[in-house]
Amino acid sequence: MTAVTESAAADLVGSADSGTDPMVPHRYRVVRRRLETRDTVTQLLEPLDEPIPAFAPGQFAMLYAFGVGEVPISMSGDPSRVELLQHTLRNVGAVTGALCAARPGAVIGVRGPFGTSWDLNSAYGHDLVFIAGGIGLAPLRSALLQALSQRERYRRLVLLLGVRNPDELMFRKDLRSWKGLFDVDVEITVDRGAPGWRGQVGVVTTLLPQAPFDPDNAVAFVCGPEVMLRFTALGLSQRGVPAQRIRLSTERNMKCGVGLCGHCQLGPVLVCRDGPVFSYDRLAPLLHVREL
Ligand SMILES: Cc1cc2nc3c(=O)[nH]c(=O)nc-3n(C[C@H](O)[C@H](O)[C@H](O)COP(=O)(O)OP(=O)(O)OC[C@H]3O[C@@H](n4cnc5c(N)ncnc54)[C@H](O)[C@@H]3O)c2cc1C
Ligand code: FES
Repeated sequence: MTAVTESAAADLVGSADSGTDPMVPHRYRVVRRRLETRDTVTQLLEPLDEPIPAFAPGQFAMLYAFGVGEVPISMSGDPSRVELLQHTLRNVGAVTGALCAARPGAVIGVRGPFGTSWDLNSAYGHDLVFIAGGIGLAPLRSALLQALSQRERYRRLVLLLGVRNPDELMFRKDLRSWKGLFDVDVEITVDRGAPGWRGQVGVVTTLLPQAPFDPDNAVAFVCGPEVMLRFTALGLSQRGVPAQRIRLSTERNMKCGVGLCGHCQLGPVLVCRDGPVFSYDRLAPLLHVREL
C-alpha cells in the first residue's frame, strides 16, 4: 500500500522546481569514466538537453540506462560545478552494471535532483564530522567539497572512513589531498588489513572515541550500510552528540523517486521524498523496519 494520496501526488509532480516533468529523463553524455575500485566507477556527465537544476549535497538522481532500467544514485561531485554531474556507482546488478559499463560518448538519462540534503547551511559555526562506510563516501564527498569551499563557516572538519580492505578505497586522489590539509582531520580504517597496509584496522566506529571533535558543537553526517548507520549513530550518541545533530542517509529500492509509487516506503515515510537524509531522532524508530 502506498502512503501517498492522489492529491499529494499531484502536488509533488506540480512542485517540480525545474518547471519540467520530473518523470522525464534529461539526456546526458558520459565525458569521463574513472575506475575507483574493481567494481566501482565514477562517471562525469555533460547535458545534451536542458540540464537538471542545481543539487544540494546528499540529494540523488534517478539514472536511466536506456533499455535496461533506472536506479537512484547520489550526486558525488562538486555542487558548485553545475555544468557537469558526477556519480559514483558500484556494479551490483543489471542497471548499475549497465551504467558502470557506459564509456565516454554513451548517453544516459538523468532525473532529479530529488530528496533531502545534508543541509550544511544549518551547520554554520559547528564542527562537521563526516563518517562514511565504503561507497557511502560518494554523497559525503559532495558535502565535504562544499564545506571546503566555505571553510571559514565551519570549525573542525573531520572525515572518518571505513572500508572492507585497502583495495576498496575510492577517491584516492581526494583522500591524499584532504589528508594534506592542516585544517582537516582524515582517519581511515579497514575491516581487514593487507600486506603493505600500515593504517588502522577495525570497523569505522572504532575511530569514534578518539576523533577530534567537540560533541557539544558537532554535526555528524553518516552514510554507509544500514548496520553501520545503527552502530555509528549509537557511538555518536555515546560521545554526547544529540540525535537532532546526527544526520543519516538511508537507502530503499526506488521506482519513481518523487513520492508517487510507494516503492521506497519505510514505515510512515517515503525515503525518496522525506529522505534520503534523516536526523537520527526521526530515523531511529524506523531502522528496524525491513525493506518491502
Ligand atoms: C538515495 C539512494 C542513493 C544511492 N546512491 C548510490 C550511489 O551513489 N552509488 C551506488 O553505487 N549505489 C547507490 N545506491 C544504491 C543503488 O540504487 C542500487 O545499488 C541499485 O538500485 C541496484 O540496482 P541494480 O539493478 O544494479 O541491481 P539489482 O539487480 O536491483 O540489485 C542487485 C543487488 O543489490 C541490492 N540492492 C538493490 N537496491 C539496493 C539499495 N538501494 N540498497 C542496497 N542494496 C540494494 C539487491 O538486493 C541485490 O542484492 C543508492 C540508493 C539510494 C536509495
Ligand atoms: S514513492 Fe516512488 S520511489 Fe519513493
